[in-house]
Amino acid sequence: MIAGQQPIIILKEGTKRERGKGAQANNIMAALAISDAVKSTLGPKGMDKMLVDSMGDVVVTNDGATILKEIDVEHPAAKMIVEVAKSQDEECGDGTTTAVILTGELLKGAGELLDQNIHPTVICGGFKIAAEKAIETLNKIAMPIKPGDKKTLKDIAMTSMASKGASSSKELLADIVVDAVINIAEKINDKTYVDLDNIQIQKKQGGGIANTKIISGIILDKERVHEGMPKHIKNAKIALINSALEVKKTEVDARIQIQDPTQLQAFLDEEEGMIRKMVEKVKKSEANVLICQKGVDDIAQHFLAKEGIYTVRRAKKSDMEKLSKATGAKIVANLDGLTSKDLGSAGNVEEKKFGDDKMTFVTDCKNPKAVSILIRGTTEHVVDELERGLHDALSVVKVALEDGKMTAGGGSASIAIAMALRDYAPSVGGREQMAIEAFANAIEIVPKTLSENAGLDPIDMMLEIRSEHKKGNRYTGIDVLGGKVDDMLKNKVIEPLRVSLQEIQAASEAAVMILRIDDVIAAKGGGGAPPMGGPGGMPPGGMEGME
Ligand SMILES: Nc1ncnc2c1ncn2[C@@H]1O[C@H](COP(=O)(O)OP(=O)(O)O)[C@@H](O)[C@H]1O
Ligand SMILES: [Mg+2]
Repeated sequence: MIAGQQPIIILKEGTKRERGKGAQANNIMAALAISDAVKSTLGPKGMDKMLVDSMGDVVVTNDGATILKEIDVEHPAAKMIVEVAKSQDEECGDGTTTAVILTGELLKGAGELLDQNIHPTVICGGFKIAAEKAIETLNKIAMPIKPGDKKTLKDIAMTSMASKGASSSKELLADIVVDAVINIAEKINDKTYVDLDNIQIQKKQGGGIANTKIISGIILDKERVHEGMPKHIKNAKIALINSALEVKKTEVDARIQIQDPTQLQAFLDEEEGMIRKMVEKVKKSEANVLICQKGVDDIAQHFLAKEGIYTVRRAKKSDMEKLSKATGAKIVANLDGLTSKDLGSAGNVEEKKFGDDKMTFVTDCKNPKAVSILIRGTTEHVVDELERGLHDALSVVKVALEDGKMTAGGGSASIAIAMALRDYAPSVGGREQMAIEAFANAIEIVPKTLSENAGLDPIDMMLEIRSEHKKGNRYTGIDVLGGKVDDMLKNKVIEPLRVSLQEIQAASEAAVMILRIDDVIAAKGGGGAPPMGGPGGMPPGGMEGME
């Protein structure tokens, strides 16, 4: 047989493959579909999305990371964009929508260059240079946050909540957030560290948002197990147990034949005796509060109530760990080993009523760094969106406190970067210059989208902003609430530097990674390489096709 007449088959039958320009165009389109889906949520005037899952559960949110987490994306390149949102969320907790939109816009610009027959490698090279220059510019325009400057931290919290359902009570919430973060901040070798795991968030539906408050201590969404137990224990000595106060069921089925009623009574007495011994052990340790991660049966409840020991059962593992940290108690697996040394302490353990529900408050803990935020809101959806808003706000305040640097928001930093890139590009020359200029155009998507979402004319706004920046007013951005171009510092729209840095880094890395792909090979039955024009799982128009 003559070579060349027969095609050589190296892939399994049924494998889908898309190569070269087709693959690139397809990936770019998928990325754009994702960025289109979240674009309308950007900024304080952004709209919300209602997401309905296959079980019919509804989430109403404005949070880019949440939207992308909830929707089922199938296209491989689209999945990479979802990763951008995830990593942005993990690094900074904010800026997810921006990072995604920026990635989409970078790829759109790259698509136009590809159409002019510029090689992807050249575009990637230009993008990398541009990203470095952008980061350099950001560092240049960043401003220091003075240590202990609570007012600035509060403004940073309010900026991040401006676009969330929380915005109506953001004053109150921002104060709570700043207090909570400052309370748990630690100084190690002159550097500040904030571990947000030290802030417990509890939600309770009912009551208005205004009833949301900070509590120094831990809140358990549990009531005491028996009405006969005291409701309030002062100078609590707390035992944390992660085994059950129940008679263990045997692994094998055993049958006991009972001939007369006295035997039955003896058997029941035996069981009761075992439980009574367990309660004795708790009592002997001198604990007056018992938090159990497992079950506490009726007889045990009865004896514990008789001893006046405030008991909570089936506490969450994460709450047990928080309690251990806050009160100094050791989590004990075996009751036999429980001694007074294992107990933790707190000034107060108290049951409080919220509507029909009761919660246990452990306050005035041994470790004053234990802080909880109790979120209140009229409905479940309000409480959930509030929690997402608080998550963003806590994250930005943490980052701001750790780094001590901020930038102005409202798209002002984007314009500063675009101008720096346009000044710089000619010195690079050639085709890479075109890629750097494309980067500059792409980053302007932030102020453009902020204007669009606020119902302002993006072209007029951009012309005005650019002219202000040329005059040296480098903090000018879109004042979306006032509907005009204005100084963002004056408007107190500020963000931590790290959020902007991460946005640029995440977006440019993802764009470059997607551009370098020129061959998509999908195994039979796999989700990849859908037909041209239809980024799988999501139509190019955005969310309309969602089910
Ligand atoms: N009052 C405001 N005026 C103008 N822009 C604002 C204002 N408040 C927030 N922003 C801007 O909104 C953007 C953040 O919007 P958001 O919907 O939270 O998206 P992301 O998920 O990227 O954080 C940032 O660019 C921020 O500077
Ligand atoms: Mg945000």
